[in-house]
Amino acid sequence: MENNMSKDIEKILFSEEQLKNRVKEVGAEISRDYRDKNPLLVGILKGSIVFMADLIRAVDIPCQIAFLSVRSYGLKAASSGKIDMDGDIDYALGTRAEGRHIILVEDILDTALTLNTVSNRIKELNPASVKICALLDKQVQRNIDLLADYKCFDVENEFVVGYGLDYAQNYRNLPYIGVLKREVYSGD
Ligand code: PRP
Repeated sequence: MENNMSKDIEKILFSEEQLKNRVKEVGAEISRDYRDKNPLLVGILKGSIVFMADLIRAVDIPCQIAFLSVRSYGLKAASSGKIDMDGDIDYALGTRAEGRHIILVEDILDTALTLNTVSNRIKELNPASVKICALLDKQVQRNIDLLADYKCFDVENEFVVGYGLDYAQNYRNLPYIGVLKREVYSGD
């Protein structure tokens, strides 16, 4: 492995090559399903940025992009259960959601609380449709009944970082997705 962050990685789950190939496939699916629909792809910050950047280049139909900043509070190494999403969503998006075909782009679906909250708020604005595109779908028992319409990979209930995913804001720039060594976060 090529850099000093890699010493904290237990194992690589998805290599750069695997990510590139799978994101291309999902981009092609979206292109096929949304032909003539000019979808608005909405990335949920910050974890989605790397996925979003690659995904939009794998989509070969006209589309637009926007981002939403959503904060969750609580334990550092686990999903928190409280989502903070303030303000005017259209303003945050920089465009009106009404009548648009919206695809929410997320790095990982864990409890699904984040996407459930975002998706419900966006639906209040009367979009034409709202679908979910997740890079990773964590295989956990969920209280929230929400499925990804598009997804790249399933992952076990492990602490994954890289390709946008962080631990304490670090590791987002790893070009692959790996499992973080337990000793790195076991103090949390
Ligand atoms: C992470 C991740 C998702 C969310 C998934 O975001 O990026 O947005 O948690 O968890 P959930 O399905 O249980 O809601 P985080 O709040 O860590 O912010 P980040 O995107 O800036 O890393």
